[in-house]
Amino acid sequence: MKHYDFVVIGSGIAGLSFALKAATFGSVAIITKSAAHESNTRYAQGGIACVTSAEDSFELHVQDTLEAGDGLCDESVVRSIVTDGPGRVRELIEIGVQFDGRPQPTGLPKLDLGHEGGHSMRRILHSKDATGRAIEDALVEAARMSPGIETLANHMAIDLITLRKLGHVSTDRCIGVYVLNEATGEVITLRANHIVLATGGCGRVYLHTTNPSVASGDGLAMAWRAGAKIANMEFIQFHPTCLYHPGAGSFLISEAVRGEGARLLNQQGERFMLKCDPRAELAPRDIVARAIDAEMKRTGAKCVHLDITHKPAEFIRDRFPTIYQTCLRFGIDITRSPIPVVPAAHYQCGGVLTDVSGSSSLPGLSAIGEVGCTGLHGANRLASNSLLEALVLAHRCCGKLVSTPIPDPEVWQVHLPEWKSGNVQDLDEGVVISHNWEEIRRLMWDYVGIVRTTKRLQRAATRLRNLQQEIQEFYWNFKVSTDLLELRNLATVAGLIVDSALLRRESRGLHFTLDFPGHSEDQRHPTVIQRSDP
Ligand code: FAD
Ligand code: SIN
Repeated sequence: MKHYDFVVIGSGIAGLSFALKAATFGSVAIITKSAAHESNTRYAQGGIACVTSAEDSFELHVQDTLEAGDGLCDESVVRSIVTDGPGRVRELIEIGVQFDGRPQPTGLPKLDLGHEGGHSMRRILHSKDATGRAIEDALVEAARMSPGIETLANHMAIDLITLRKLGHVSTDRCIGVYVLNEATGEVITLRANHIVLATGGCGRVYLHTTNPSVASGDGLAMAWRAGAKIANMEFIQFHPTCLYHPGAGSFLISEAVRGEGARLLNQQGERFMLKCDPRAELAPRDIVARAIDAEMKRTGAKCVHLDITHKPAEFIRDRFPTIYQTCLRFGIDITRSPIPVVPAAHYQCGGVLTDVSGSSSLPGLSAIGEVGCTGLHGANRLASNSLLEALVLAHRCCGKLVSTPIPDPEVWQVHLPEWKSGNVQDLDEGVVISHNWEEIRRLMWDYVGIVRTTKRLQRAATRLRNLQQEIQEFYWNFKVSTDLLELRNLATVAGLIVDSALLRRESRGLHFTLDFPGHSEDQRHPTVIQRSDP
């Protein structure tokens, strides 16, 4: 069994940024369940929201974030993350990330700033329309070059090890993690002074999502099982514009396209956003996604259209090369034709409840990036605030952990038992896993989507309880596999979303229910849930 100062689970912007900093203070292992670069981060298009221009101000960015969050952001958290942004962005530039713009003799380069929904200013730093790839490539390379970091790719964290799970009743702490080596099927046990969850979001819990397959909510489910507090899981963000094409999977059409003037049109070619919000296509995401959903239901259409053909073709090809090329592969020339689009699940605004340095309610466990919930996003995340939050939290978390005394040495004498597999049969019932997986994702899409009702949520809750029981039987009886573990986590996270949604008896931000269509002042607080029997 290996003992590290820091075990980081996940290799997106949050995990890698943390690991690079922590490696100067101690030994670091990064556990990541696919190739090192595979993450939501890699697919980010629009960019990072950060105040860098003379016309902009921290106050404007704070106000835009609060407005998008619909009364549920923690203002002091918003203020502190927004003001830390420029310093963290400068560090990204120092490790080689190139944002579009012209270099200046001093300070940050004069950047070409993008515009997105809910922002009152142009403030999005980007690398064309593939910002995430530029960031992820630079971070993966920096981690590869760092002698203090050991990266275990294709290793999936299964569960956290806590003192309480080992029978200690007086005190609890996260002290290790079981990890599946996907190549050998062996489960290894790692001990750590600090465990940092950076496992990203849970988009795969929905049938239609912009997220890659790694986003199955594993970190959130592990933290829940370990007894950490979870907050605001009812607020799942649906991105308004995902390419609608049978062969395209869930390819995102960045909000930056609307930022450059693209218009949403219904089947009749009418610009319907004008009657929904004075900001029209650049209203916050919850408003635009709901308006599209309503328009599709009203007209019976399977999609709406995003039209940027009024802009010069050369500009479109240069500013959005990835979107242009991808759409072209599906027979759509976006310089000449509107793009068919639909909303899709995109971002988890809630997560493991943490302070502004990523510390969770469980000692020894931090959560940073999309898996955490600091209070920045409230009921709806402002576009491009996610990469910003991940960067700032990685920095803060490292600062806090290196200055936190590690617990008494007795904790490290506690014996960590080896992983025990069930009856160790290979799971040849693959069809059961794929069936349950499909059922959860469809059920979430149909019953727990953009517009909800109590009846549909209750139906989802009942069905999920049965599925969870069935999956739990598989989990105990069969040898674990990535698919089975992901299915178990997906079922857990789906249950947490539904339970949180049932607790919120109002509509706010991304949680819209026909049974309680307005705001309710006495509900203006985060939804916090915690397992009673960890
Ligand atoms: P991720 O980048 O998702 O990384 C999570 C890591 O954890 C992955 O390496 C994964 O393999 C690993 N992992 C998960 N479970 C386990 C496990 N059990 N064991 C081991 N490893 C595990 N946000 C913005 O601010 N601006 C944008 O322009 C933007 N565009 C986006 C476009 C798309 C298509 C998508 C999907 C998201 C976009 N977002 C954007 C959101 C943003 O990309 C993510 O919120 C952010 O990248 C999350 O970073 P992270 O480090 O927390 O998680
Ligand atoms: C996009 O480019 O539209 C995604 C931005 C985000 O999710 O913040």
